[in-house]
Amino acid sequence: MKDKINVLIVGGGGREHAIAWSVRKSPRTDRLYCAPGNAGIGELCECVPIGAMEFEKLADFAQEKEIGLTIIGMDDPLAGGIVDVFEARGLRVFGPRKNAAILEGSKAFSKDLMKKYHIPTAAYENFDDPGKALEYLRTRARFPIVLKADGLALGKGVLICRDLAEAEDGVRQIMEERKFGSAGNRMVIEEFMTGREVSVLAFASGNVIRPMTSAQDHKRAKDGDQGLNTGGMGTFSPSPFYTPEVDEFCRKHIYQPTVDAMVSEGRPFQGIIFFGLMLTPDGPKVLEYNARFGDPEAQVVLPRMKNDIIEVMEAVIDGTLDQVELEFEDNAAVCVILASDGYPEKYEKGIPIEGFENFRDKEGFYCFHSGTRRDEQGRIVTNGGRVLGIVAKGETLREARTLASQATDWITFSNKYMRTDIGRAIDET
Ligand code: AMP
Ligand code: GLY
Repeated sequence: MKDKINVLIVGGGGREHAIAWSVRKSPRTDRLYCAPGNAGIGELCECVPIGAMEFEKLADFAQEKEIGLTIIGMDDPLAGGIVDVFEARGLRVFGPRKNAAILEGSKAFSKDLMKKYHIPTAAYENFDDPGKALEYLRTRARFPIVLKADGLALGKGVLICRDLAEAEDGVRQIMEERKFGSAGNRMVIEEFMTGREVSVLAFASGNVIRPMTSAQDHKRAKDGDQGLNTGGMGTFSPSPFYTPEVDEFCRKHIYQPTVDAMVSEGRPFQGIIFFGLMLTPDGPKVLEYNARFGDPEAQVVLPRMKNDIIEVMEAVIDGTLDQVELEFEDNAAVCVILASDGYPEKYEKGIPIEGFENFRDKEGFYCFHSGTRRDEQGRIVTNGGRVLGIVAKGETLREARTLASQATDWITFSNKYMRTDIGRAIDET
């Protein structure tokens, strides 16, 4: 066997907890650290109080602790160029460089890339002048229509507008009031598409891409896809709508063309590409790209992966991904997010959580922490809108859904809120 290595994970949410769990499982892992981590991640490794945007401090730490692999979980440090900083110091790091992370960091870039390389996506126009955007809306637009802030906006910079009045207001919010900050320096206006949404995460290395099993997120806060957009209220994997035919189409017309396009543009992509897809009546189309694992997609995809995550990540870095075949268990997983009541708007934090012991030694059940911390008395308390991701595996999606729903009862905190219909799409098939 190859040497053991010390590993550092950058981030502190449910996705990073799932990555940490997966890394801990690898026989290749020696010491494991996470910066900044959270209370749950702290059970698996040592959490280090360095922020994800403190690149030089993180690189100093990696040098001092002889870290053999740093895994960047989050989008902001990737878009900010953390990988370039690590590489300049000769440190091994998993994630795209700044010039490739732009695939997520700029929607205008990704739309232009798809147009140039004929990758199916919604028709669109880019704007950097609110006057021109308004003129377009008044003269040429069809409704409903979709407005997107160009830059990173915590998954919230997308407005679906039913009519001209809503769209005019949207342009004002994004470009004039700067509701999403500098993400709104530019914007994309695109055609509204209908269909099932599917998330496919893939390991990418230059021209080689290896897609993982599919998943579906539930972005709205309330049952029946009502309420405000959130970071994601729950996921299931695989998606029954992602058939072998859809997979074949996407590999040929979306996944491979995307990595090839990035190489042609002089921006080879190494890391995870997250394809947000919509299965429209005209075939699968790209809604968005992300340059990292999804949250909470990672929580249902990684527990089903049979490969050693360290081996796959090293193959991405070493350019040997063509020699890797990904394998997934022939089962299903469901993740239900336990959130703080009021999320994504106003909610209380610092509330004690009970019941973690119920997950101990329970095969096929996981409790991934999204927003938790230990208080002065050592109790685990809530520390965010999304608090925990309760995951269960089952032989079928239906079974996984039933088990996940039971396991949500094992945890209590006074302002616990969750959707009760995660994975219900399954009943419609
Ligand atoms: P995004 O961050 O680009 O994935 O957008 C967030 C959500 O907005 C997506 O998950 C979709 O539900 C919705 N959305 C984005 N673009 C479109 C579109 N062109 N047509 C319909 N819905 C969209
Ligand atoms: N679950 C959607 C995302 O991670 O952006």
